[in-house]
Amino acid sequence: MANKYNMLNLIESSLSAERCQRNWNESSIVKDQDIEDIVQICTNMPTKGNKETYQLIVSKNLDYNKQIFKYCYNSEDENHLENVNKNIFPNPQVAAQVLFIWISNTSINDNTPADVFMDDVNLSVGISSGSAALSANSYGYKTGFCKCFDSEKLNTFLRKTFDISKKERVNLLLGIGVPVDDLPHNSSITEFAQKDHDSYNKNIKIHYKN
Ligand SMILES: Cc1cc2nc3c(=O)[nH]c(=O)nc-3n(C[C@H](O)[C@H](O)[C@H](O)COP(=O)(O)O)c2cc1C
Repeated sequence: MANKYNMLNLIESSLSAERCQRNWNESSIVKDQDIEDIVQICTNMPTKGNKETYQLIVSKNLDYNKQIFKYCYNSEDENHLENVNKNIFPNPQVAAQVLFIWISNTSINDNTPADVFMDDVNLSVGISSGSAALSANSYGYKTGFCKCFDSEKLNTFLRKTFDISKKERVNLLLGIGVPVDDLPHNSSITEFAQKDHDSYNKNIKIHYKN
């Protein structure tokens, strides 16, 4: 499925990355070497002063990712909570073959104020995750971002597996995988998932000066 001959087609890859993929062909393989390439690309991308502003979890375990999927809802949204009570979860993009999770680091031992450092963290995660999505799509995979999760429960869950301190928190998730053929990107067939999702377009204003 994945093929590197698409690598230079960045416009096509960005159009693919724009969409949030919500169904996955679970029997397809995401190649280890492709994952390693994407990890390298997204962690090579710059951070301010090349500081370690985040950590990255790379889960290639579908069952584990499906457990994480059940923490991915907005705990302040009544619709989400109503559905979660019925065992229906809104973010199946996370129940992917591969899941990248960016963890925010906290302020380091220099003179950077904590709020300024958090800005740097968020910008770095944006740059890193954008490059991960673009490169994954250029390799022929599909991707879906998620920043919607029950922070307490998800962080507690991850700390059982990974050496992450209580201060270091999940910032953003990105599912990567192979889609189901002939199914719209925003339909899900994942068990316990909300089946259909709206799809949004954007029109970014661009200011040119020649
Ligand atoms: C930083 C970031 C966070 C996102 N978080 C979520 C999320 O929590 N839940 C969700 O359903 N989609 C999330 N998305 C996906 C976008 O909503 C999606 O890419 C956009 O709406 C266009 O894709 P669509 O056609 O599937 O709607 C996120 C995207 C980005 C870039």
